[in-house]
Amino acid sequence: EKGGYDHFMLKEIYEQPRSIRDCMRGRIYPAEGKVQLGGIKEFAEKLKNIDRIIIVACGTSWHAGLVGEYLIEEYARIPVEVEYASEFRYRNPIITEKDVVIAISQSGETADTMAAIEMAKEKGATIFGVCNVVGASIPRITHAGVYTHAGPEIGVASTKAFTAQVTVLTLMAFYMAQQKGTIVNSKLVELLTELDCIPEKIHHALESNEQIKTIAEKFKDSRNCLFLGRGSGFPVALEGALKLKEISYIHAEGYPAAEMKHGPIALIDEEMPVVFIATKNSSYEKVISNIQEVKARKGVVIAIVTEGDTDVKKMADYCIEIPDASEAFLPLLATIPLQLLSYHIAVLRGCNVDQPRNLAKSVTVE
Ligand code: M6R
Repeated sequence: EKGGYDHFMLKEIYEQPRSIRDCMRGRIYPAEGKVQLGGIKEFAEKLKNIDRIIIVACGTSWHAGLVGEYLIEEYARIPVEVEYASEFRYRNPIITEKDVVIAISQSGETADTMAAIEMAKEKGATIFGVCNVVGASIPRITHAGVYTHAGPEIGVASTKAFTAQVTVLTLMAFYMAQQKGTIVNSKLVELLTELDCIPEKIHHALESNEQIKTIAEKFKDSRNCLFLGRGSGFPVALEGALKLKEISYIHAEGYPAAEMKHGPIALIDEEMPVVFIATKNSSYEKVISNIQEVKARKGVVIAIVTEGDTDVKKMADYCIEIPDASEAFLPLLATIPLQLLSYHIAVLRGCNVDQPRNLAKSVTVE
């Protein structure tokens, strides 16, 4: 049942080229520059006039929500707020009929996310679900939704469900942009054509597995680890840190790279591995200066870089390459090496990767 892999987590990491393909199937038409989302079609008109979007979720799904925020604001120009479901539900938040709430949940059973939905529904908001498990509770209490179609995820640490959530949110951002006319068709043709090639690029990113295993050996005894990124590299950093802490029990934190000098920089010494999302995008130069700051304090830098990068390579102790892509798709690619890194570190530490201590696959109590 593990398909020849040692753990479900590894199997699920390797399934991503396929799960992302499944997630896009029948939804994108690159040549026409068109996105079709049957699940939310009846709200197509409404989407032209909404005031804002509130994304609610927990854990990894909340990280996917942060990526969604960048994409929806960038392409559809709709203000987005991303909330922890557990905080949102107890805050007496301001919600109107003109709001759309997107609830993201792999299992579709998370108690806090369900309660947040019920509350927003009572206040008149339109609720969309982004779920993986077909027919779960959340898809039943939402007005509409888009399934991620990643297939069953057994490992407690979310991997393929996360990248499928990010894919769905990317499609939603493009769909809303198309409805609102905030994107020209030629641009959508370009983006969808590229998105169509992402599964292939993920396949390519997975080829760094052996190299990542070697790097994991060097860091298996670390006590702390910092993950830094900017822009949509920031949610990727948060996700990388969560993956590492939940399966290897190494204390890890994700931060926006620029926040480093507002506190975390004090932690940096020769014992401190710092993982940077340092791909070639709009924040590349800024990330490079953050790397220099870490090196100046003798931190050990592991950088996720774009294939062919030369600048970061001069500074970082270890570089893991991923294929080049437009900024919109970087989170999908940059997540892959971080999943593999935490997987290998956890295995080398003898941890129960698929069933980490104290954790359940779905959190059905608050
Ligand atoms: O099923 P959900 O997506 O609602 O679950 C939310 C979190 O419990 C979940 O993402 C958790 O953080 C994972 N263990 C992360 O790998």
